[in-house]
Amino acid sequence: MKIQKVAVLTSGGDAPGMNAAIRAVVRTCAYHQVECVGVYRGFEGLIDGDFKELDARSVKNLINRGGTFLKSARSPEFRTLDGRKTAYNNLKKDNVDALVVIGGDGSFAGASIFSNEFNFPVVGIPGTIDNDIKGTDFTIGYDTALNTVVEAIDKIRDTANSHNRLFLVEVMGRDAGEIALNAGIGAGAEEILIPEQEMGQNRLLESLSRSKKSGKTSSIIVVAEGDRVGKNIFELAEFIEENLPEYEVRVTVLGHIQRGGSPSCYDRVLASRLGVGAVEALMLGESKVMVGIVHKKVTLVPFSEACKVDDKIDLELIRVADIISI
Ligand code: F6P
Repeated sequence: MKIQKVAVLTSGGDAPGMNAAIRAVVRTCAYHQVECVGVYRGFEGLIDGDFKELDARSVKNLINRGGTFLKSARSPEFRTLDGRKTAYNNLKKDNVDALVVIGGDGSFAGASIFSNEFNFPVVGIPGTIDNDIKGTDFTIGYDTALNTVVEAIDKIRDTANSHNRLFLVEVMGRDAGEIALNAGIGAGAEEILIPEQEMGQNRLLESLSRSKKSGKTSSIIVVAEGDRVGKNIFELAEFIEENLPEYEVRVTVLGHIQRGGSPSCYDRVLASRLGVGAVEALMLGESKVMVGIVHKKVTLVPFSEACKVDDKIDLELIRVADIISI
């Protein structure tokens, strides 16, 4: 079947570079004389029929903007067959032949069910700051988020150093330590706590004790929000002060500043490549695949692979972090 009209939506948490990906999808459609519609608010908009025709000029001045101009949502209704049926009928009514979903593994899981149920062509583009999707080396937004985190920790370091304090900095990553580990190394953190590796509270205390004895006057510990140390970050700060009174501890939770902001050049280029790849994959008859980047090459990965829990954290990085924080 020749694809004549493509719909594009963003789903799940926003990520810097999603706009650049939408722009690339729209312009690739225009380049190949395929019509394109944007769907507002992710799968919610698919169910509500919230569509807008997009042409090459409708995506001007977007490449540098964070967030997603199509908006994003988590859709409980799309989890029901009735919701998905309505979505399918809306696509058919608008003569849409194929769908591009920009989002994370949860969005791909929904897209995959939908595609199977209605035999509707869907291609995914990985967009999440967490970089926790299998089958792609990088997800759109991750590089920008890393740079945002490192910039913030550099500022915190000034205060840590001026007051001889220990700072616990919480970064995003509910299930993944990619941001914590890489930003932690980049920002020169003393310790990095991630969900993939349980450090243990006592080992943390031992390490902090050793640091004090080695002459360190200030320190930064980066904590992924999904870490498994067994205490939330404020409890952890109290625990350290109780057990090591020589430390004055402060907590900073970076929160959603990590999700916003203008995308880095890397994310813009990645988004552009994956946007082109997604439309061209659909035109070649591909479906139920994610367009990823593997060893610098645009690659197609089945949704069944991309949706698996990722365990790609590079344990060698933990060793590097340990060595250079001596
Ligand atoms: O998946 C991206 C992410 O930023 C996670 O790192 C974080 O745990 C979550 O989204 C926060 O989601 P919300 O914005 O819905 O609170």
